[in-house]
Parts: sequence; C-alpha cells; structure tokens
Amino acid sequence: MNSSYQQLVKNLDYLKLKKMREHLDEIIDTAMSNQQSFVEILVRWTNHEIDMREKNMIKSMVKVAAFPHLKEVKDFDFSFQPSVNKQQILDFISLRFINENENIVFLGPSGVGKTHLSTSIGIVAARNRVSTYFIKCHELIQQLKKAKIENRLEARLKHYKKYKLLIIDEIGYLPIDPEDAKLFFQLIDLRYEKRSTILTTNVSFKSWDEVFQDSKLANAILDRILHHATVVNIIGKSYRIKNHFEQEDE
Ligand SMILES: Nc1ncnc2c1ncn2[C@@H]1O[C@H](COP(=O)(O)OP(=O)(O)O)[C@@H](O)[C@H]1O
Ligand SMILES: [Mg+2]
Repeated sequence: MNSSYQQLVKNLDYLKLKKMREHLDEIIDTAMSNQQSFVEILVRWTNHEIDMREKNMIKSMVKVAAFPHLKEVKDFDFSFQPSVNKQQILDFISLRFINENENIVFLGPSGVGKTHLSTSIGIVAARNRVSTYFIKCHELIQQLKKAKIENRLEARLKHYKKYKLLIIDEIGYLPIDPEDAKLFFQLIDLRYEKRSTILTTNVSFKSWDEVFQDSKLANAILDRILHHATVVNIIGKSYRIKNHFEQEDE
C-alpha cells in the first residue's frame, strides 16, 4: 500500500468522514475501472457521507420530539374506526397544514386513537425535518408553572413557541387552575397564526369552561385554536377494549 493511500485514510479518520472511509476502496476500484468521470465519482463518494448524516439528523429529530411511541398511520386500522376519514389523515401527513400554520384537534372519548394519530402525523413531520415536540397538557402546564416560579417564563414560552409543530395531548383529562390556564393561553396566543399545533381532547368544546374554570379564558383559548383548525371528531369504540367487544359479539 502506498503512503498517499495511508495519508488519505488518516485524513478521512481525522475529518470523521466515516462513510467515505468505508467506501474508499470501492470508490478507488470504480475510478480504476474508468466507468465514471472524476466528478461523478466524487459525488457518489460524498453522497455516502451525506446519506448517513441525513439519517442521523432524522433520527435525532424524532428523538427530540419525545413521542410516547412510534406508531404510524400504517399501523392504524381505519376499518375499526369508520368515523376517521383516511383521506383526511393522508392529507395531514402531506404536512400541508404546517405550511398554512393550521391546527388539528382530535376530539373523542378514550381509546379511539387520538394519541396514535397525532403521534403518527408528528413522526412524518419530524422525519421531514420539521421541528416537532409532543407533550401532555398536564406536563406542559407543570413546566410553564415551574418556569414562572423560577422567573424564566418568557424563555420557556419562547422555547415552546419555536417548534414548527407542537402536539399537546390530553386537554381536559385534569382540570386546570385559572392561573395556570393563563399560562396556557399565553402559549396558544404566541403560536396563533404562526405555528401549527395538534391538540387532543376528550372534552367537547362547550365544556372547556369547566376544564379551564374561567369561561372568558376558555373562549379566548378556543377562539385562537379553532380559527384555523380542522377538528377530527372521532365517534367510536375504544381500541383498548376491542377484544372485549369481539368476545361479546361472539
Ligand atoms: N384504529 C386503530 N387501529 C390500530 N390501533 C389503534 C386504533 N385505535 C387505537 N389504537 C391503539 O389503541 C391504543 C389506544 O389508542 P390511543 O391513540 O392512545 O387512544 P386515545 O388517545 O384516543 O385515548 C393505542 O395503543 C393505539 O395505538
Ligand atoms: Mg391519548
């Protein structure tokens, strides 16, 4: 082996070009067989490195999003939940709504697939390099409260504002103090018409007064969420207790 080859290997290691190092011999063989131009060979060689970085970037976007699981649209049984329009969900995963800064609200009882569907849209967004974050409403409010106590509310709000897609799961499972509702309002207001948010709730909008325990605030929140939103109202059986139904049917 000649010394410039050794030097090249050292350079690639030093520059941490792992994939170019891995494909070096194959690239040299191609170059020797004269099948491609020098530039074409360089493009092919550097593409190996770019592919790996792209894959790593996508992995890290999905990791940062903190999804509860990695269930996708293909894992959703649309025949079990006929009130969900598959074409509409496919339109969501085209991510058109994110370009338009629109919101999606999944409304329906427990177990009908609200978290599953919002996560599956979020996964597509993260894989397409859209900064995405998944959080339960209760956890979000705890984080905002904590930030307020520690005098860093503004920074925290800015942090949650920056995500191109924020998924707020389970609004209404736990009641929210009016003081905390104000924090939630601030975030919704900051994102209004600038960012997309997916929300899930088991509480119909007319009962959000009770969730936020302040009807003016509840209205202001709903107003901003629903102004540019698609509401997916899921009426159906819980998938969690699907087997019980099947047994009853037998
Ligand atoms: N139509 C469906 N096809 C496949 N799995 C489903 C379907 N609906 C719900 N599930 C699964 O059932 C469980 C409950 O769904 P989930 O999305 O958490 O319900 P929700 O958030 O509405 O309470 C999850 O494991 C989810 O993946
Ligand atoms: Mg859920």
